Amino acid sequence: MAHGHQHQHQHQHGHAAHSSHAHTHDSDATPNGLPEILDLDAALFAPHLTALTGRIACLAGDDVRNIVDLGSGTGTGTFALLERFPTARVTAVDSSPAMLERLVSAARDRGLGDRVHTLEADAGAGLPGVVDADLVWASASLHHLDDPATALAGIRAALRPGGLLAVAEVDGMPTFLPEGGEPGALESRCREALDGLHAEQLPHRGADWGSLLATAGFSVEQERAEPWELRAPLPEGAGRYAYLVFERIRGNLVGRISPEDLAALDRLVDGGPEDVRHRDDLVVRSTRETWMARRPA
Ligand SMILES: C[S@@+](CC[C@H](N)C(=O)[O-])C[C@H]1O[C@@H](n2cnc3c(N)ncnc32)[C@H](O)[C@@H]1O
Repeated sequence: MAHGHQHQHQHQHGHAAHSSHAHTHDSDATPNGLPEILDLDAALFAPHLTALTGRIACLAGDDVRNIVDLGSGTGTGTFALLERFPTARVTAVDSSPAMLERLVSAARDRGLGDRVHTLEADAGAGLPGVVDADLVWASASLHHLDDPATALAGIRAALRPGGLLAVAEVDGMPTFLPEGGEPGALESRCREALDGLHAEQLPHRGADWGSLLATAGFSVEQERAEPWELRAPLPEGAGRYAYLVFERIRGNLVGRISPEDLAALDRLVDGGPEDVRHRDDLVVRSTRETWMARRPA
């Protein structure tokens, strides 16, 4: 059963920018800037990812060979887990051929091509041909699936008895602007408008995954919400990440926020003095939620 949330506050004074991971939830099916956002998120939140795969290793043990990355995107989880479990192979499942192509190319570049297998499929409808997985990783992907109960039953069937499911989600759009003034208020209005959009398009975003996992027959061993805050000096790529996030949400928020707010968003990406790519006052804030759940032995 779900244990209580453990809230951890972590401040990262970002030097490290390597490896991969991220979560800005797209509300449409086309990649459209998303692959680069995912890769930059991976780099910015690399310390989170390292800690997370460390926790997984504590729960799953060292002998993890057969891993599924469900809704793999560009491979953030795939590459982090291949590093953490040196004898493992990953099946990367995604419904987007463009994402999988990018992942395969990155795997080849890293000399990991022989440890990655891809499966283009709707992960909500079961995982065809996948059996006896030691570990399923689902990061920022479960909320995309049509029916969580069916999806979780498919994941459970793909795991070996005693196998582990690691679920990661983010609590919404990351924020970047100083809090307490108009820029912070603008971001709050954008987050609220995005929540409205997602309620229509991605109804399972923000679901109570702990309860859903328990109902699906998993034993939930950890549940955490970790607010991250990256402050100056920010890792390389932070300005570009903020730029891509604002570009993306601007497109999604036309008609959902006021013309004044749209104009303010434009000024954050127009190359002028307020452009997030040139500012030194950005603080990247994002809350990462995780659930570790086991298929009972
Ligand atoms: C926000 S991205 C997260 C990617 C990656 N897991 C990460 O953490 O960086 C969501 C991914 O889920 C994929 N996806 C969405 N619906 C899916 C479905 N029904 N079956 C499989 N993959 C899906 C998308 O193509 C996208 O690559």
